[in-house]
Amino acid sequence: MTPTPIIIDCDPGHDDAIALLLALGSPEVDLVGVTTVGGNSTLAKTTANALRILEFAGRSDIPVAAGSDAPLVRRQDTATHVHGETGLDGPELAPAVGSAIDLHAVDYLAQEIRARNGKLTLVPTGPLTNVALLLALHPDARPERIVLMGGSVGEGNRTPAAEFNIWADPEAARRVFDSGIDVTMIGLDVTHQALITAEHGARMRATGRTGTLVAELLDFYGRWHEHMYPDLVGSPMHDPVAVAHVIAPSLVDVRPARIEIDCSWEQGRGRTNVDWRGRHDTPPREGHVVGLGIDADAFAELLIERIASLG
Ligand code: RIB
Ligand code: CA
Repeated sequence: MTPTPIIIDCDPGHDDAIALLLALGSPEVDLVGVTTVGGNSTLAKTTANALRILEFAGRSDIPVAAGSDAPLVRRQDTATHVHGETGLDGPELAPAVGSAIDLHAVDYLAQEIRARNGKLTLVPTGPLTNVALLLALHPDARPERIVLMGGSVGEGNRTPAAEFNIWADPEAARRVFDSGIDVTMIGLDVTHQALITAEHGARMRATGRTGTLVAELLDFYGRWHEHMYPDLVGSPMHDPVAVAHVIAPSLVDVRPARIEIDCSWEQGRGRTNVDWRGRHDTPPREGHVVGLGIDADAFAELLIERIASLG
């Protein structure tokens, strides 16, 4: 089977880092490149963290292109309380040796999409600023599919109304959802079912140095989630679920939906208004689907297996 070429546009971030490792351990996808955006931390830190993870995995051959530090319109608001000062607090991870390529992420994305005649799946796992700019600056360079981590049908996490990636840059998100490209929204409704527990972490630790790194990332990342979500057992694997859906589509139950982004400045800022029941005759946009359920056990086993395969 020919692997699906993907680029992950990310803001590492603990779960972004695990998503990168999942992609590296999965033959179903070919991670041709990584682009970075400000979000969980500043662009400088998310870019350094992407480099650190790829170098840890012995994949410094994969280019990293730095993108936007700030949202299109809104002020940047990082998630230091979740990911720490470095954006990847917890494990002892060597500082980056290499550096990002000279090309801006938006121009790199356009280059790689054109080189493949659009046959590329873009997996954004941070604010959508780079993707919106790609659509604006390079309207001919459209990926055939976008599978993004963001949004929620129900409760948000940055505010009660909105999930962080969409909340951070609602204008960018609206541009992406209105683009006419096939968009799969992997939101909190799914990712809060994809919980990795301390037991899973212990199993991963026993599989080797990569599993140990992931377990150490989870130790730090889990602290915030235990505090904020005492009702959940384990930590939600937001970004890895987006990658897992490309690797094994059947894991996630998706439904056609119409998804509108609230770009107000009040309580509703960044809300993804998801209509998957056809209320008020708003038909789903062609190619828009929203994740609603996941086989959580199968996801956990896939993650553990693929992390173990990296040794
Ligand atoms: O709301 C969760 C999302 O915001 C994840 O992508 C996490 O890494 C942060 O970017
Ligand atoms: Ca992220």
